[in-house]
Formats: sequence, C-alpha cells, structure tokens
Amino acid sequence: MVDLSTQYLGMTLKNPIIAGSSGLTDSVRSIQELEKCGAAAVVLKSIFEEEIAFEYEDILKKASKEGLNLSQFDYYDFHVKSEKLNRYTMLIEECKKAVSIPVIASINCVYSHEWTSFAKKLQTAGADAIELNMFFLPTEFGRTSEEKEKAYFQIIEKIQKEVSIPISLKISYYFSNLGPMIQKLSETGIAGLVLFNRFYSPDFDIDKMEAVSSNIFSSPADLSISLRWIAIMVERVRCDLAASTGVHDGVALIKQLLAGAAAVQVVSTLYLNGNSRISEMLKILERWMEEKGYGCLADFRGKMSQAKSSNPAAYDRVQFMKYFGGIS
Ligand SMILES: Cc1cc2nc3c(=O)[nH]c(=O)nc-3n(C[C@H](O)[C@H](O)[C@H](O)COP(=O)(O)O)c2cc1C
Repeated sequence: MVDLSTQYLGMTLKNPIIAGSSGLTDSVRSIQELEKCGAAAVVLKSIFEEEIAFEYEDILKKASKEGLNLSQFDYYDFHVKSEKLNRYTMLIEECKKAVSIPVIASINCVYSHEWTSFAKKLQTAGADAIELNMFFLPTEFGRTSEEKEKAYFQIIEKIQKEVSIPISLKISYYFSNLGPMIQKLSETGIAGLVLFNRFYSPDFDIDKMEAVSSNIFSSPADLSISLRWIAIMVERVRCDLAASTGVHDGVALIKQLLAGAAAVQVVSTLYLNGNSRISEMLKILERWMEEKGYGCLADFRGKMSQAKSSNPAAYDRVQFMKYFGGIS
C-alpha cells in the first residue's frame, strides 16, 4: 500500500485531491458526498466581498473616526449583508460537525475595506483555513500595476491581523511580472498559493449581438499554464503550492505532483464526470506509484520542477519556433 498523504497549509491531508471552491461545495450534503468519494479537503464556495455583512453602525463609527470618505461604502447593500455572512458561518459550523476532512473557507476580495474583520468570524465558526480568492481585472487604466498589486499585500496583512488559522491565496496569472510577484506573495507569511483561478469570460452571440457566457468548465488542455508555473516556482517560494485549473484526471494529478504541487484542486472534472472521478484519479495515482516503486508522495514530488529538470530551458520557452515543422 502506498501512502498518499500530503502536507498542505500545515494540515495533513489523506491524499492530494481537494474539491475546489464552486457550487459543489456550498451545502453540507454535497460536501459529505465529496468526502465519501475521497476528497481530502474542501474549499467552500466563496463568500463574495460584496455579500459580506457590514454592521452599519460599526462601519460608520470606524470610518468617521479614521476620517474616511463615507461615499466609498455606497456600493454595499447594508440590508442583506449580515444574513449572508450568518448563513456562511452556519455552513462552516455544520460542515465541521458533518465531515472529518478539513474545511477551507473562501473569501472573494476586491477592496481592502473594513470587511476583513469578518475573517475572524469564519475562524470562530471552525474553518480550518481561509483561501483568499483575489482578483482585479487589469482594466483600470488610471491605476498603475504597482498600485493594483499593492492591494494584495494590504489585504493579506489585514487578514493576518485578524486570524491565526492558515491563509492561502488563490490568484490569476494576470500580473505584469508574474514570477517575482508569486515569490513576493509567498514571502508574506501566507501558508499557500493556489495557481491559478479560472474566471467567467464573455463570448459573443453573433446572431443576437449579445455578450454571453463562454465555456464555464475548463478542459484538460488548460492544465499547461498552472503546470508550468508550479514547476517554475516550487523551489522559489516559501509556501505550499496547490494546482488549480485543468486537473481532470489521474495523469494530470501525477503531472502536478511531479511539478511540485502539494495538492490539486478539482472542480470542472467533478461537474463533468461526477464525484467518483476523485477515487478514479486516486487509483491511477496509486497504480502509477506502485509501478514506479514510490512509497509516498515525497519520493517523487517536484522531480520535474524546473530546478530539478534536465532541461530547465524548456520551462522558459514560449515561442513555437521549429516545433511544428511541416505545419504551416
Ligand atoms: C460553477 C463554478 C463556480 C465557481 N465558483 C468559485 C468560487 O466561488 N470561488 C472561487 O475561488 N473559485 C470558483 N470557481 C473556480 C474553481 O474553483 C476553479 O478554480 C476553476 O474552475 C478551475 O479549476 P477546474 O479546472 O478544476 O475547474 C468556480 C468554478 C466553477 C466552474
């Protein structure tokens, strides 16, 4: 029997497959189902910053004390917020009673306003860790990339002051200088980075002349971006790396572990193939490890990282050049 356990965010997971944040992780029943099918942890559906409760009085008090411009809070609908947060903390509490795998709460962050203090409520509710789902689409032409990137560090710092449970950060690859940015983020004291989130993207309906949703689910071909960056960054960061996007089967799981991932997060493949996909992936991993004579993940994790590769230049190569000789 091979040992599939892994360390992620300071926790021991029974295997490296985490059910990522999505509609599949927004109820106790579906989380129990995921546990039954072998998921080693779950990341709850994100609570979106815009949904987070604001105790109106507190906010106003704090804001006026700090001389803040109150108009910046206008976009919050103060009436619905506290109910949403309560529902989220209840979900955490109920999940903690119903399953024995770690439950990671997820917050979607846009601005670093006072809402960060609510992170403590997620910890109190029993969350084992908090994943910050952070992303600003770089379409604000009036702000420099430095200004936008600073917000990441501000939010991390604020949340770190609020909670003592591990914090991970789920990011996109839209950064002006991705490698150094990942490295700097890993040095903030966070426990993990999730590379990468995948977003809703618009498509066009050319008959109706309307913007519509493009593919909601990833495809196996989407694996390559996170695979490359996990492999490049794993020896350069000071925290765990989890792979997200395009992990659809056991082979993709093995590749991400070889790149150096501590764990993978899966979503699309569960929507497309059902939760039983998790046990199928684990069986493929187990069989492969047995064939190769590996007893545990540490025996091969990161074996194909850029630092350990016999051909590190391949990871930096971006132009096709000679590769498609014959194809024009
Ligand atoms: C229907 C759906 C809902 C999602 N909701 C969230 C969310 O609330 N928070 C989040 O961080 N990611 C969310 N994601 C992104 C996934 O967690 C994941 O990062 C992305 O789908 C890429 O992984 P995959 O290739 O395994 O699907 C969602 C994805 C899907 C398909």
